[in-house]
Order: sequence, then structure tokens, then C-alpha cells
Amino acid sequence: MIYVGSDHAGYEMKEAIKASLKDNAGDMNFVDLGVFTTDSMDYPDIAREVAEKVSENHGAMGILVCGTGTGMVIAANKLNGIRAAAVTTDAMAEMARRHNNANIITLGSRIIDQESAKRMVKIFLETPFDGDERHQRRIDKISEIERARDEKK
Ligand code: RB5
Repeated sequence: MIYVGSDHAGYEMKEAIKASLKDNAGDMNFVDLGVFTTDSMDYPDIAREVAEKVSENHGAMGILVCGTGTGMVIAANKLNGIRAAAVTTDAMAEMARRHNNANIITLGSRIIDQESAKRMVKIFLETPFDGDERHQRRIDKISEIERARDEKK
């Protein structure tokens, strides 16, 4: 499943991405967790909803759009099991999957145009994790940071 969300600044780009997902996502369905208007709202609320769904559902992916992609990536990465990547180029979209096994892509509607965003989402969703031992080892070390953080609570 793909979980999609945006704040007000990302709303129009989210809608454009949804339209392209209908053409490109194959058998992966998506759920739009909002927002549904361009009324000003706080991006951490949507980042949290999408990230919770992705962390709770094995194999799920997330797409988050705000003005820059920055607020969304900061907030989403607070949740265990989330590897969110703020992407501004095709190469970043590809490598976030191949090397980092990222499960959320964040995009900035004030940074990139809609065609680029749709293309980067497609690359992100279609690129597999390489699975190389060195990449898995590094990802495991990220999980170790989460465990150490949780133990301190
Ligand atoms: C909203 O104005 C803007 O701050 C937000 O969309 C995002 O860019 C934050 O990182």
C-alpha cells in the first residue's frame, strides 16, 4: 500500500501525483490521508499520519509533499522504522531506494515542478533495494540508533 499526504503548500502537487499513480502504480493501491483543501495547516500532523501507517504496515511506502520537502522529512523520520528521503533529483529518488531502502519520499512543491515530482515518485516506487550486505549493515545501524534512543526513554 502507498500512503499519500501533504500540507496546504503541497496539496496541488499531491493531487497531480495521485493522478499519475493511477496510471503507474500497477497493483499497488494508494490511500490519501489528506489534506483535502489549501487551508493552512501544520505539516507534522500529516507527516505523522503517513509515517505511522508506513511503520505499521510491512512493505508500505509513503509520499509526502510540503513546500520544500524538509519539514515532512524531519517529522517522518522521528518514527521507528521510517527511512524518509527528501528528493530533488531522479538520482536521489533512485539511490534512496537502492542504497537506503527508503520507505517514504518527500517532495517540495516550491522546489521542483509537477512533472519532475511525478517522475521521481515513479522512479522511487519502481526501484528495488539493492540488498547488498554493506547497505543492509548500514540500515541495521540506523535501527540500532532507534533502539538506543528508545532505551533512554
Ligand atoms: C508552509 O508554508 C511550509 O513551511 C511547509 O510547506 C514546508 O515547506 C515546511 O517544511
